[in-house]
Amino acid sequence: VTRSVIVGSGSYLPKKIVTNEDLAKFVDTSDEWIRQRTGIEQRHIAEEGEFTSELGYKAAIEAIKSAGIDAQEIDLIICATATPDNTFPATSVAIQNMLEIHHGAAFDLQAVCSGFVFALSTADMYLRCGKAKTALVIGAETFSRILDFEDRTTCVLFGDGAGAVILKAEEGEGEISDRGILTSHLRSDGRHKEKLFVDGGPSTTQTTGHLRMEGKEVFKHAVGMITDVITDAFKATGMTADDLDWFVPHQANKRIIDASARKLNIAPEKVVMTVNLHGNTSAASIPLALDTAAKDGRLKKGDVILLEAMGGGFTWGSVLLRW
Ligand code: ACO
Repeated sequence: VTRSVIVGSGSYLPKKIVTNEDLAKFVDTSDEWIRQRTGIEQRHIAEEGEFTSELGYKAAIEAIKSAGIDAQEIDLIICATATPDNTFPATSVAIQNMLEIHHGAAFDLQAVCSGFVFALSTADMYLRCGKAKTALVIGAETFSRILDFEDRTTCVLFGDGAGAVILKAEEGEGEISDRGILTSHLRSDGRHKEKLFVDGGPSTTQTTGHLRMEGKEVFKHAVGMITDVITDAFKATGMTADDLDWFVPHQANKRIIDASARKLNIAPEKVVMTVNLHGNTSAASIPLALDTAAKDGRLKKGDVILLEAMGGGFTWGSVLLRW
């Protein structure tokens, strides 16, 4: 059987760090409030003129290097982003051009904070169908551009950054003993579209708009939705929380992550947590966390890793894989 195996990862964070204290200088908030409610201590913010494509490109270059492949082997690029450089063309096409790749297909995928899980699952389907051999899957965001810094309930939560993986089609034997993506489960439900949205767009206001969120409502639904798609992953593979080596959730909020892990009986030491340093970087948060754990030596070949995300739409999903 053909499996999609992650053979390299990379990430990039803008140089500029904004701490909670920095924010408190111009927003009516405090380090204590932000830490207690979210676990966030700081976030990275892109400089003026530093675009999503640039963050994604830098993460991609690292992923290509770590995979030890030639960039020209890549025949599929999917960039998950809700903050593209422009309305069109797709940011993935800009990144493709920066990499000097002029063959294959490149497109963006929009599932907000679930974007990376949706993109990884999509790339997995292309590879397993034989439609592509080597995919570059990126999550890249500049959420600072769509924040309303007059709204303290949202502007303290998000940051900028990018992460990327190289996914390769490899032949393997057996059902779940192989390396690679074992199963993925994607969901969406537009009845919740007003709970987390951007109040602008080309078709509605002809402006970019700002992020709006009913934080309590998002919180209320998050844990249930997350545990549902993870239960689906366990059912599909016959695995349980005990089989996991690492849990790499979307990094929105420490309280949501802790509550989800507790409900699923995932031991706290298996949880990869970067929200304290990165804030919520939407589609970039999972590949950033994954690359953090890969670089510090936590992820070993053969480790079972569970990815999970939930975001605007709502959209939510899980990917279970063997590193
Ligand atoms: N600093 C200080 N005080 C604040 C701030 C702030 N930044 N923001 C809100 N407050 C105040 C409120 O005004 C309110 O004051 P009041 O009681 O005088 O009216 C008080 O703090 C409590 O506000 P709540 O909204 O009830 O605070 P809550 O405990 O619900 O925490 C939070 C808010 C952190 C947003 C929480 O609801 C949450 O984490 N929700 C999930 C949001 C999330 O993670 N979204 C992203 C997931 S999906 C995605 O990634 C796209």
